[in-house]
Amino acid sequence: MARKGIILAGGAGSRLHPLTTAVSKQLLPIYDKPMIYYPLSALMLAGVREIAVITTPDDQAAFRKLLGTGARFGVDFRFIVQPRPEGLAQAYLLAEDFLAGAPSVMVLGDNLFFGQGFEAVLGRAGARDQGATVFGYEVQDPTRYGVVSFDETGLVEDIEEKPAAPKSRFAVTGLYFYDGRASRFAKELAPSPRGELEITDLNRRYLHERALHVELLERGFAWLDTGTFDSLIEAGEFVRTIEHRQGLKIGCVEEIAFRRGWIDAAALRAAAGDNPNNPYSAYLLDVADGRASAGRPTDS
Ligand code: TTP
Repeated sequence: MARKGIILAGGAGSRLHPLTTAVSKQLLPIYDKPMIYYPLSALMLAGVREIAVITTPDDQAAFRKLLGTGARFGVDFRFIVQPRPEGLAQAYLLAEDFLAGAPSVMVLGDNLFFGQGFEAVLGRAGARDQGATVFGYEVQDPTRYGVVSFDETGLVEDIEEKPAAPKSRFAVTGLYFYDGRASRFAKELAPSPRGELEITDLNRRYLHERALHVELLERGFAWLDTGTFDSLIEAGEFVRTIEHRQGLKIGCVEEIAFRRGWIDAAALRAAAGDNPNNPYSAYLLDVADGRASAGRPTDS
């Protein structure tokens, strides 16, 4: 069964008020594109083409306007509402019918991944059809995150939410691969003291079976989350710096679809529109005409 994707793009966005009073966090700009393009590109790089986009009830219309059916990006979207932000693992209750027992990959709508070798790491996780895979990233201050400790085979030994005394410096990023049992396991979870179905508890369910794997995102790799004023602008500056230097875009979903053969050059030109008078559209035309380097297919 083909792996399906989930982008979790609801939430309160309270740390970004008043930016998020009228606009969903995941629609805010990260330099030259809406935030959700970055996690969407991660799913596309994982080869996933059936994707559920989970939003708040109020914001769904805007996401539909931005993303459409998915045909422009060679994928297929299903829009699902999360009535209240009751936790990351709730996504697996809301998406149960969509998943229909398929293996899945979920990405948080405010996470940005960029770096050499990302597709290879995604490929390893995607090839595992039993159990779950999380991604560890070494951070300065692990106490703010879920933290994972593991043995030399890459099996997780422990995973803890915001530990006061972390057993490692590896934070768990907002990208999770699960086998077809995730919705069933999510139903067994009870809300945490803060009233949420915790993704760490779902991961622990796999850990109990010794079926929780970790892939490390090495030094030099960028994992950014964008939920505060500073991290939002830092992510934008990061994207701008790399894009200016290389003339290649990060998280350009039409480009990824084209390089994977999911859409053709005519579709890229159509996406550029009648007025390619902005750098994003001009870039799509460069890609269509072979002016932006294809590099190796693994470069994104
Ligand atoms: P958070 O950053 O933990 O929460 P938030 O986006 O609501 O922001 P804040 O803390 O400022 O109030 O959420 C991580 C991602 O998961 C983000 O993309 C929002 C999403 N999310 C949901 O879609 N539903 C939820 O129930 C929760 C808790 C988060």
